[in-house]
Amino acid sequence: MRKSSNLEKRILLGVTGSVAAFRSLELLRKLVKNGFVVDVVLTEGAELFLTPLSFTSLTNGNVYPSGSGYLTPFAHLDLAKGSQLIVVCPATANTLNKIANGIADNLLTSVLIASTARKIVCPAMNVNMYRSQQVQDSLKKLRNMGYIVIEPQKGQLACGDEGEGKLAPLEEIFATIMESSEEIELIQGLKVLVVSGPTREWIDEVRFISNASSGLMGTALAAEAKSLGAEVVFITGPCENRFYLADKILYVESAKDMYDAVMQEIDDADVLVMAAAVADFTVRKHKGKVKKEDIEKFTLELEPTVDILREAGSRKKNGQIFVGFSLETDNLLDNALTKLKKKNLDIIVANSPESFSKDITNATIIRKDGTQVDLEKVSKRKIAMEVFKEVARLRKLSR
Ligand code: CTP
Repeated sequence: MRKSSNLEKRILLGVTGSVAAFRSLELLRKLVKNGFVVDVVLTEGAELFLTPLSFTSLTNGNVYPSGSGYLTPFAHLDLAKGSQLIVVCPATANTLNKIANGIADNLLTSVLIASTARKIVCPAMNVNMYRSQQVQDSLKKLRNMGYIVIEPQKGQLACGDEGEGKLAPLEEIFATIMESSEEIELIQGLKVLVVSGPTREWIDEVRFISNASSGLMGTALAAEAKSLGAEVVFITGPCENRFYLADKILYVESAKDMYDAVMQEIDDADVLVMAAAVADFTVRKHKGKVKKEDIEKFTLELEPTVDILREAGSRKKNGQIFVGFSLETDNLLDNALTKLKKKNLDIIVANSPESFSKDITNATIIRKDGTQVDLEKVSKRKIAMEVFKEVARLRKLSR
């Protein structure tokens, strides 16, 4: 098992062209004062309001003026890999719309698409721009991708209009950065094992028993753990999605394969998150294809599969944190708490089969002491964020 590493706290501050750009200087000063090393990336728009020299004078990191991304071939990748946290303050409508749609046409937007780190955006713009369908759609998309959006305030705007669009108070932005930074400090460098998707139990050469798990929850959990700097090992059953944010991916098929993969990785894992919908039954695979005319003679004999999480829970080492999921149609919370105890877990997430394949769903996070966090109509990424907040809390308690 690994300890959170004590790397320097390196933040990337992206500044875009809003009249609120001058406030980023104040934020920069506060971050440097609080021990962060801050690299600054400016867009062309930002430079209409401030010069790169204003930032160079205040920061202890590097300043990248607009266009400087083209001076070395991999500046965007180096910055993406080297930043634990990226804060775009202020974030204009133009930049928000670009990043929500994967456009990477300057250094900042290129770093954002290349980075797996935690990202925070602080919108600031005119009220009608803020309320526009485009910006609202972009913010929704960004939240579902794991971005933290610090809502702007209502008030008198620089242009004279009244309404939402004024940059959030710096204290709020700073507090959010500190909270994320603490979470990163507690999780980074840990080996996090995320197990995801359905399993497949073959009946014959062409048919199998499975379930409707989409793997979306596991995908969100892996991306979230990665954003906090964990070393993520992802074990997945057969899913449509084949692209995952993880350091190592093991593709498995049956419950037995999944069990073997978990047992191979669990020993030195710090955190296990078991989001897979494992088949509870398997069958002895028939050679060839069962023919229609043979159906009378054919019986499907179900055998129970091993309970992977229960087995892992029985071997759990001191300091390991185990998270399970509980899929129930009735008595959701009681059954989930019983499973938490039976499988020796620290946290269990209760949800219902309606959550299958849906990105917006309800879930309840239940702790060992029975206290719970209810999440209503939230994205799977939001559930993943809350799960790792709990993991960070437990790490902090055990220090
Ligand atoms: N699980 C597992 N191995 C199994 C079955 C389930 O590791 N063979 C894990 C799931 O990944 C989940 C937790 O155990 O994290 C609870 O799974 P769930 O399907 O809700 O419940 P079961 O334990 O299978 O019990 P039941 O089907 O009776 O509700």
